[in-house]
Amino acid sequence: MADSWVIMVTAQTPTNIAVIKYWGKRDEKLILPVNDSISVTLDPAHLCTTTTVAVSPSFAQDRMWLNGKEISLSGGRYQNCLREIRARACDVEDKERGIKISKKDWEKLHVHIASYNNFPTAAGLASSAAGFACLVFALAKLMNAKEDNSELSAIARQGSGSACRSLFGGFVKWKMGKVEDGSDSLAVQVVDEKHWDDLVIIIAVVSSRQKETSSTTGMRETVETSLLLQHRAKEIVPKRIVQMEESIKNRNFASFAHLTCADSNQFHAVCMDTCPPIFYMNDTSHRIISCVEKWNRSVGTPQVAYTFDAGPNAVLIAHNRKAAAQLLQKLLFYFPPNSDTELNSYVLGDKSILKDAGIEDLKDVEALPPPPEIKDAPRYKGDVSYFICTRPGQGPVLLSDESQALLSPETGLPK
Ligand code: DP6
Repeated sequence: MADSWVIMVTAQTPTNIAVIKYWGKRDEKLILPVNDSISVTLDPAHLCTTTTVAVSPSFAQDRMWLNGKEISLSGGRYQNCLREIRARACDVEDKERGIKISKKDWEKLHVHIASYNNFPTAAGLASSAAGFACLVFALAKLMNAKEDNSELSAIARQGSGSACRSLFGGFVKWKMGKVEDGSDSLAVQVVDEKHWDDLVIIIAVVSSRQKETSSTTGMRETVETSLLLQHRAKEIVPKRIVQMEESIKNRNFASFAHLTCADSNQFHAVCMDTCPPIFYMNDTSHRIISCVEKWNRSVGTPQVAYTFDAGPNAVLIAHNRKAAAQLLQKLLFYFPPNSDTELNSYVLGDKSILKDAGIEDLKDVEALPPPPEIKDAPRYKGDVSYFICTRPGQGPVLLSDESQALLSPETGLPK
């Protein structure tokens, strides 16, 4: 076997947003949660991670590049994922090129990993979820591991808890599991992305100057100090999970919206109940909640659900395109872009929603009428960095087109 060959696999994995939140671990090392959670997978066309993994006898060590910059793989979470996938590696053969890697060779061979997010990592949009899911999925394919996506999710979980839910499209449940080794703490698909395809998701990336507490640190402090978390995990979430699954299966938006908003608010209440308290939302987040609550109330039935993770960004889930277009009009009324910002770089993703809203340029934004449900509605120019319009999307896929690979097929180094 000549030493010059490189074998590569490229995969793309979506990010996800929880509608019933994971917050709190019962085992820090294995990343086992204190409750089940449910998420919606976001369309990878707008938010995803692409990862190329390569193996070659010429690689001297495992190496990784994130968005073009080399990063260390020495952290426990990377090491756990690499070890677990290597343990499941099988024989790989490329007959055309005369290359054979046997199961036991994988222990000695090193890998190169290059990962790229199609959205700003700094925006705080769950990049670690898509990242670890993609790493595990791509390595599993490279090493010919026979595990299904649920089994792979239990490995991705050891990279970052929320990553396990990115192994599927549509709506996904992370079952907390019972056994000590964590083997039953994994993700399962509730419904696929076609099941409820009228939903439209608008993300408001909120400008923030504040350095946020990481999820890992935040939830550790919550587990140590919040009594409300214990009540939530034992009494509230188990019932909500059942109701949420029903709402999703029946496409019952009123119930879905009620549960999603309530669970986001309870997660932030639990953060506030932590000692010292953790504040992830800011004034802009609160204004968005108020805008949605007032509108939903004025219509009589919920049009939009909101949810916020460990940061100020709002994820808004609209019942259908009509509700999404109206929502976008309201959001652009309250949060118009700074005068030096183009509309094209202010509303990203699926721009057809802008068209539905009858907005073509900044003049249309200026001319938007104030939402009737709020008297003397003020405008907060520049408080939102940008919006992303998207929808529920599919799970991980392999990209067979070599031009999409992030590593060179000759050298195994970033292109
Ligand atoms: C608020 O998965 O980022 O987004 O497991 O420590 O890596 P670690 O935490 P992470 O936490 C996500 C918390 C959340 C809610 C959720 O996604 O369910």
